[in-house]
This record gives sequence, C-alpha cells and structure tokens, in this order.
Amino acid sequence: MENASLYDRIGGEETLRTLTDRFYDFVFEHELIARLFKSDKDEIKEKQRLFLTQFLGGPGLYSEVYGHPRLRARHIPHPIGEEDAIAWLTCMDKAISTLTISDDLKKELFSRFPQSAMFMVNS
Ligand code: HEM
Repeated sequence: MENASLYDRIGGEETLRTLTDRFYDFVFEHELIARLFKSDKDEIKEKQRLFLTQFLGGPGLYSEVYGHPRLRARHIPHPIGEEDAIAWLTCMDKAISTLTISDDLKKELFSRFPQSAMFMVNS
C-alpha cells in the first residue's frame, strides 16, 4: 500500500462520506462561519466529497461534473477572512478526529488542508 493514494489509505469513498457529513455538521453549527453557507447542506457535502476524492488522489469525480476546480475563484463570492479559514480548519480537524483511522493517517490527512485554506482567504 506504500504507493497507494491517501484516498485509498484512509478507506476511500466510505471514509470521505463520513468525513464530509461530520465536517459540514460542524460548519453549519459554527458561530463564525455558518453565515457563509447558504445552499443546501446535503448538496455541499456531496460536492466536497467529489472534490476531496480527487484532491486526495482518487478518481477525478469533481472535475467530471463541474470542470476544473478553480477553487480560489469559486470562493471569491464568499468573503473569507483569516479567522474564517482557522474556523474551517478547526471543523476539519474535529471531523477528522472522529474517523476510525490511525493517528498517523489523521495527521497526514489534516496536513493537506492548512495551505489550501489560507489560499482561500480573500478579505
Ligand atoms: C478557508 C475557509 C473556507 C471557507 C470559509 C469556505 C467556504 C465555502 C463556501 C461558503 C462555499 C459555498 C457553499 C455554498 O454553496 O453554500 C464553499 C464551497 C466549496 N468549498 Fe470552501 N471554504 C473554505 C475552504 C475550502 C477548502 C480549503 C477547500 C478544499 C480543500 C474547499 C472546498 C470547497 C468546495 C469543493 C466547494 C464547492 C465549490 C463549488 O463547486 O461550488 N473550501 N466553500
């Protein structure tokens, strides 16, 4: 499994369904960032699952449906400050901590997010 993608090593589709489900439950309850999320919760969970599948080295599911991610551009309509990025990361950390994977994999998984989250800061 050493050459397997992180997507495969964390348990693929099933793990990402659990992760995105729990992540957005935390996000939609968060006192700072819940305000930013205006569309349907199940819809954003599913979009994020498709995106994270390819972001973690699995099949390119998001791009098949939505085209090139252009994530920074897609976030421009949402005013995101540094504190929002930190809150987003806190929700992700909490969601990852609930997964039944090893602590090493949890650390490796979380390490994929801080740089991207800071890249989304636009206000
Ligand atoms: C830095 C903090 C972040 C905030 C506050 C934030 C907020 C948002 C918001 C408000 C939306 C639109 C949701 C809706 O339709 O109601 C969105 C969409 C999305 N975000 Fe983020 N986001 C952040 C970081 C990230 C990161 C780090 C990633 C990926 C690793 C990501 C991936 C996505 C994806 C895939 C979508 C769906 C895009 C689409 O197809 O419309 N976001 N985000």
